[in-house]
Amino acid sequence: MSVQSPINASFEVDLLILNGTIVSPSDLIHAPASDIAIKDGKILCVGALQGLFTAKRVIDAKGGYVTPGGIDSHVHLSQQNSIGAVGDKFESGTRSAIAGGTTTVICFAFQAKTDESVLPVVEEYHKKAASFSYCDYAFHMILTNPTRSIVEQELPILVEQGITSVKLYMTYDALKLGDRQILDVMIAARALGMTTMVHAENADMIALITEQLYEQGKTDPYYHAISRPKISEDEATYRAISMAELIDAPILLVHISSAVAAKHIKDAQTKLLPIHAETCPQYLYLLSEKLHGENFEGAKHVCSPPLRDSMADLDALWDGIANGTFTILSSDHAPFVFDSPMGKKLGLKDGVSRFTAIPNGLPGIETRMPLLYKGVQAGRISIQKFVEVACANPARLYGLSNKGSIAPGYDADVVIWYKDNDTDFKPFALTNEMLHHNIDYTPFEDMEFGNWPKYTIIRGNVVWARDEGGILGKKTDGKFIRRVKAGLRQPRNKFVNEWIPQYRGRVPSNYE
Ligand SMILES: *[C@@H]1O[C@H](CO)[C@@H](O)[C@H](O)[C@H]1NC(C)=O
Ligand SMILES: [Zn+2]
Repeated sequence: MSVQSPINASFEVDLLILNGTIVSPSDLIHAPASDIAIKDGKILCVGALQGLFTAKRVIDAKGGYVTPGGIDSHVHLSQQNSIGAVGDKFESGTRSAIAGGTTTVICFAFQAKTDESVLPVVEEYHKKAASFSYCDYAFHMILTNPTRSIVEQELPILVEQGITSVKLYMTYDALKLGDRQILDVMIAARALGMTTMVHAENADMIALITEQLYEQGKTDPYYHAISRPKISEDEATYRAISMAELIDAPILLVHISSAVAAKHIKDAQTKLLPIHAETCPQYLYLLSEKLHGENFEGAKHVCSPPLRDSMADLDALWDGIANGTFTILSSDHAPFVFDSPMGKKLGLKDGVSRFTAIPNGLPGIETRMPLLYKGVQAGRISIQKFVEVACANPARLYGLSNKGSIAPGYDADVVIWYKDNDTDFKPFALTNEMLHHNIDYTPFEDMEFGNWPKYTIIRGNVVWARDEGGILGKKTDGKFIRRVKAGLRQPRNKFVNEWIPQYRGRVPSNYE
């Protein structure tokens, strides 16, 4: 068999994408240099390719942006601690993901406090996801009981299995860790090259306020927002940063909702500490007034941290995306059906509201990319910044080495958008019926959209074609992705505090 040169008009590729504008975190590549040839699930080359190949399929991107597939790195699907409540499992959640331009999700495997080993937990989540995922997927491990044997023996195994991040909670009685436990995990994670994700809210402040509100009979959904003030997030964020500074360990602060917390993060980054942060569309668009509402509807907007009060809060978060404070924009898709006694209405018993019993979280996996794109159209961020926080950074930070970039050798995960003012696209007001999740509402109902992914392509397969039948992919398409060690911003000082143990000799080479 002869070896064929790819530069040969008779060489057949699987898919050619022509005439688009390719976006990276720094650049725009315009036609005619922006053609993409895809073969065997990978990007073969990018350039002025017309006439150089034949192709099984050609898509004309018609001057629209061509971005890497979205990576949603904060997604709760089929999660064991929300059994009983009604939410999305892998099948409906990932179906919704691809319809909104997301090609990879990083979901959580959840350790209950009673689980003495996390290895069976990982197995269980593999079973929940395998053959039920429309898109590629990976796992983070939520640790609620980091015993010595888990930290010392099992975390290195997780890294070998491609799970290179853990998530810790500073709040929620069933989940929270004390500072000493957090420090111990950070030391281990640092030595293994894992990223530690932290949900930062001060649990005792919240418990105190909640007790007072209940004594006064203030138990409607709105009081959820009152019970978790910004200062509880600000304090815990600063405390998490201080712990990470002490250990010189890379962390990512999840779903930041307050301007002061964002400022703590920015200040830490200015000191070159390895601090990353994430925010989510709900904190860019929605205010706590949504927690009022007839017939318990406010419960639809209960999430933690809660939605904040003022436009100034929203503006600070947009600024934080634009100025690099936020590494990542994720959905924190944590969906619960509203109209079910096992869903949001767990917080309504015999006509009496109890906000503490409302499951926390919002659906948003499908709307994440289009909502961020609205920020591009509104002039809040550039399209390059869009790609950075929604596609490229989640891949780099979490070690998805073949994803997040449109370049030769990468997985051919691509989203094609409509050209702005394209006559093929009619701006519309969102209704929940348009979405593909298994939830009976969207917090973004009635919001206007001026663009939406026209095509979503995963490893070269068109899995979503908005004008040609919608969902084309199958629930068996998604693959588990083993992640490599993470790193956008790494520890800087390899001789940090001399008392930090060189964790059983295993200092990852990328720290040196
Ligand atoms: C960047 O954004 C953060 C978060 O909103 C803010 O605290 C900081 O002041 C901003 N920095 C600049 C230089 O605008
Ligand atoms: Zn979450």
